[in-house]
Amino acid sequence: MLCHVWWARPGLVHLGLLSRAERSRLPGHHNPAQYVMGVALLRLLAGALLDVPPAGVRIERSCPDCDRPHGKPVIPGGPHVSVSHAGEWVVAVAAPAPVGVDVEVTADDGWSPGMDRHVFSPDEQGSPSAHRFFRYWTRKEAVIKATGRPVPMTTLSLSGLDGWVVADLLAEAGYAAAVAVRTPESVQFAVSQVA
Ligand SMILES: CC(C)(COP(=O)(O)OP(=O)(O)OC[C@H]1O[C@@H](n2cnc3c(N)ncnc32)[C@H](O)[C@@H]1OP(=O)(O)O)[C@@H](O)C(=O)NCCC(=O)NCCS
Repeated sequence: MLCHVWWARPGLVHLGLLSRAERSRLPGHHNPAQYVMGVALLRLLAGALLDVPPAGVRIERSCPDCDRPHGKPVIPGGPHVSVSHAGEWVVAVAAPAPVGVDVEVTADDGWSPGMDRHVFSPDEQGSPSAHRFFRYWTRKEAVIKATGRPVPMTTLSLSGLDGWVVADLLAEAGYAAAVAVRTPESVQFAVSQVA
């Protein structure tokens, strides 16, 4: 199975690709450039795979907790997609099976040993390190985003996952990123930087 991974820098250049509902989330958004590029990258990637203009790609979002149009992005008829943004990067993924992606800034002051209790399950305790923390965090967040149902990371054991492919993505220094695909098949990753 092939999983496409597209990286881009945040930006407003593709504002025209957002739907009216998506634009309604812009005022007051904490990072409009990340948000706009995230939505656009989903449409550009799915449009390329479906061979349709990006503006014609319909993305559905529904939140189980409120009636606002946010939450897991779903493209009716596929492909499965996911998007993440952090700092100076936006990353979108698409695959024929449920997929999730996460990128995080791994700043030196972004971790302290006390944070481990929010990420590691009881069977995952090990030597505390920022590297290990962000590896597990991004892998687990990618799995959670593939399912669409947030759960405490401590209830998720990566070694106990069956029928998943979870992979770290090569990211710029200062970032960690991972992708998760729910499939019993092997997965190849096609990685591009598009903007
Ligand atoms: C989903 C979630 C894991 C995203 O993690 P994050 O590190 O904050 O942000 P990322 O940049 O990695 O991902 C953001 C993207 O995840 C996607 N997303 C949002 N909810 C999602 C979900 N339940 N499942 C999968 N993907 C989701 C969206 O595409 C979002 O992008 P957008 O804001 O441009 O629409 C996190 O926001 C979360 O746990 N949300 C659930 C709780 C919540 O916010 N509920 C809303 C109550 S009204």
